[in-house]
Amino acid sequence: MLIFVNLLFLTIVHLVQGLNVTTSDANSGNPASNAGDGNATTFWHSQYSPTVVPLPHWAIVDLGADTFINGLSYLPRQDGNLNGNIGQYIIETSTNTSTWTTVTTGAFMDDNSKKYAGFSAVTARYIRITALTEAGNRGNWSSAAEFGYNAAPTSTNLGQWSPVYNQPITIAASYLLPGGNVFSFGSFKPDTFGGANGFTLSVTFNAVTGTSTQATISQTGHDMFCPGMSLDANGSAIVTGGDDASNTSINDAVTGDWIAGPLMNIPRGYQSSAALSNGQIFTIGGSWSGGRGGKNGEKYDSATNAWSLLSGALVAPMLTADAGGIFRQDNHGWLFGWKNEYVFQAGPSSAMNWYSTTGNGSQVSAGTRAAAVDSMSGIAVMYDAVAGKIFTAGGSTSYQDVDAHNETYLITIGTPPAVPTVATLTSMTYTRAFHNSVVLPNGKVFITGGQTYAVPFSDLNSIFTPELWDPVTQTFTVLPAHVVPRNYHSIALLLLDGRVYTSGGGLCGTKCGTNHPDVEIYSPSYLFTSTGELATRPVISSISATSIAVGGTLTVVTDSEISSWSLIRYGSATHTVNTDQRRAPLTPTATDGTTYTFVLPSDSGIMLPGLWMLFALNSAGVPSLAETVKVTVSEQSKVRKLELG
Ligand SMILES: *[C@@H]1O[C@H](CO)[C@@H](O)[C@H](O)[C@H]1NC(C)=O
Ligand SMILES: *[C@@H]1O[C@H](CO)[C@@H](O)[C@H](O)[C@H]1NC(C)=O
Ligand SMILES: *[C@@H]1O[C@H](CO)[C@@H](O)[C@H](O)[C@H]1NC(C)=O
Ligand SMILES: *[C@@H]1O[C@H](CO)[C@@H](O)[C@H](O)[C@H]1NC(C)=O
Ligand SMILES: *[C@@H]1O[C@H](CO)[C@@H](O)[C@H](O)[C@H]1NC(C)=O
Ligand SMILES: *[C@@H]1O[C@H](CO)[C@@H](O)[C@H](O)[C@H]1NC(C)=O
Ligand SMILES: *[C@@H]1O[C@H](CO)[C@@H](O)[C@H](O)[C@H]1NC(C)=O
Ligand SMILES: *[C@@H]1O[C@H](CO)[C@@H](O)[C@H](O)[C@H]1NC(C)=O
Repeated sequence: MLIFVNLLFLTIVHLVQGLNVTTSDANSGNPASNAGDGNATTFWHSQYSPTVVPLPHWAIVDLGADTFINGLSYLPRQDGNLNGNIGQYIIETSTNTSTWTTVTTGAFMDDNSKKYAGFSAVTARYIRITALTEAGNRGNWSSAAEFGYNAAPTSTNLGQWSPVYNQPITIAASYLLPGGNVFSFGSFKPDTFGGANGFTLSVTFNAVTGTSTQATISQTGHDMFCPGMSLDANGSAIVTGGDDASNTSINDAVTGDWIAGPLMNIPRGYQSSAALSNGQIFTIGGSWSGGRGGKNGEKYDSATNAWSLLSGALVAPMLTADAGGIFRQDNHGWLFGWKNEYVFQAGPSSAMNWYSTTGNGSQVSAGTRAAAVDSMSGIAVMYDAVAGKIFTAGGSTSYQDVDAHNETYLITIGTPPAVPTVATLTSMTYTRAFHNSVVLPNGKVFITGGQTYAVPFSDLNSIFTPELWDPVTQTFTVLPAHVVPRNYHSIALLLLDGRVYTSGGGLCGTKCGTNHPDVEIYSPSYLFTSTGELATRPVISSISATSIAVGGTLTVVTDSEISSWSLIRYGSATHTVNTDQRRAPLTPTATDGTTYTFVLPSDSGIMLPGLWMLFALNSAGVPSLAETVKVTVSEQSKVRKLELG
């Protein structure tokens, strides 16, 4: 009797801890309650015996009381079988089960990793998911190990995360398209990579509407997984190597077309590339693909549509001492195009170098990053290009199976090849590798994701709380947590509206459990008032030119008084590397009411040619929507160079 009572008690506790799930139907032995019991081993399955109950199937999660929610989570069955994985779905909410409101629709990828279907926050007691198809179209089945929900954030004090937007592919690389949509890709399959497949699956995300458009990029014969990426003088993406290790693909910013560029001289994967002060593209390293070792520099010139080897741009001085050997030692260089067609390599090796890209190229040491250890998969961001300031944070001594660190450094670069100064700063709150960084319009650096112990395709030891580095106080503020782990293959980009797009992680097959085919967007606190309402943004009413040469004059009219200005170059991100983003603070040379006149810095090493976002910030720090400004190398400086050379 006593034993019976104890069992009953345990059963009740179990129910209270779980979620109340009911379903349209269930097979014997796989009841609806399995999808709410918090035990990933057990799962609900729609009825398949003695007869198959056909699709659609539904499941209702009853939260017991009205709750402020912004998403449903779905963990597919975890027994190694994919049968019943939900494909297309409709999600509705209700306060009373009489009236249902559709909050989102979509399709889940066919793998066993946890999924999220986010929607605008609503107050509801019931969430209903209706499965319209089976993800692999294998049969009239639906199954679920667990359903869950996301409580919507209520505070805006430290900014706020969006719902988790489900995506059709796992994203490993992204860049901004002209106008502000995000173009992203992984490899040849939605959930995995492997081999040179000659095409790439992509998705374009409209952050304003939260909608995605899929496309297969086959025009250039290039599986672009694990590439180098740079945005050129037109804002066109130059995507190099990766699984098809020699290919160059150009996504023309003007026409949107994909054009096959010339093959690189050296096949590469995990190389970094960087736009140069003359608009050309430099790349170095990349032993992950196309053979190992000897991956010296080369550069691409769009005027001649040719790569030329830079035999003097030696890779050896920038190698880390990775336990994985040369396969890892030349990966993910922290490259910054700079004055006089130089590239500054700030890491991840503790050694720093200057690379000249003229003639046959050359390399000279730029010293070491103070007492820094090698910092593979750490971040480096030029938050003030005018002053040559680069902030670095985290990383690990080897690519994998080691602790990440929390060290931060401030590097100040001047005229190459002068040795830069390096200051050691207060550490991040968390140790991180595989994290990402984004410089905000106000110069603060947003650091997000990563794990404390570096292991590709693992969500163990994930850091869910971003931190914000303030260059004035040189301290960190810990920010609200996001929902999804963002480690190996995660990315982050600044959007034209001052929010931060984050995505990716995984791409390791149907049963690895760590694919994250979704997007989360962070709204920094500057977008809110002290009472949590959306702040009124200043508006850029007119701009004298949308294309301007370095050193040129720009006149901008706003609707209200502006306190500070910045230009931030469009970003591209993969594997923690974003060599395109950099911020240049601007100070007006004249102010007349709300008409502001600027003279752009005259050095195209600071103002790399390409697309930049112009932000105007009011006295409360609220940024405008950015205007896109194309910065060009002046005709004058081109002429002068011809005369000199
Ligand atoms: C579980 O949900 C169903 C359907 O909403 C409801 O009828 C039932 O009362 C709930 N059970 C508990 C224990 O809350
Ligand atoms: C989860 O379910 C499995 C299968 O019924 C069972 O063996 C296991 O003990 C359960 N785990 C927990 C924590 O209840
Ligand atoms: C259920 O809720 C909806 C929306 O709040 C309301 O319009 C409707 O009258 C309610 N129905 C019942 C039967 O309470
Ligand atoms: C599901 O059953 C319907 C008939 O009820 C059939 O037309 C359809 O092909 C089945 N779908 C799959 C994936 O087997
Ligand atoms: C930029 O686009 C223009 C017009 O399409 C083209 O003539 C020029 O070659 C492009 N420049 C680069 C660097 O691609
Ligand atoms: C891309 O590389 C593949 C080999 O990986 C090669 O067969 C193909 O010709 C290349 N495409 C172009 C357009 O050069
Ligand atoms: C560049 O390298 C080539 C081939 O190694 C050599 O012939 C040439 O002299 C070099 N040019 C310069 C300017 O060093
Ligand atoms: C940085 O990490 C080290 C080692 O984990 C830790 O001891 C230290 O407290 C961290 N620094 C800060 C500022 O949290």
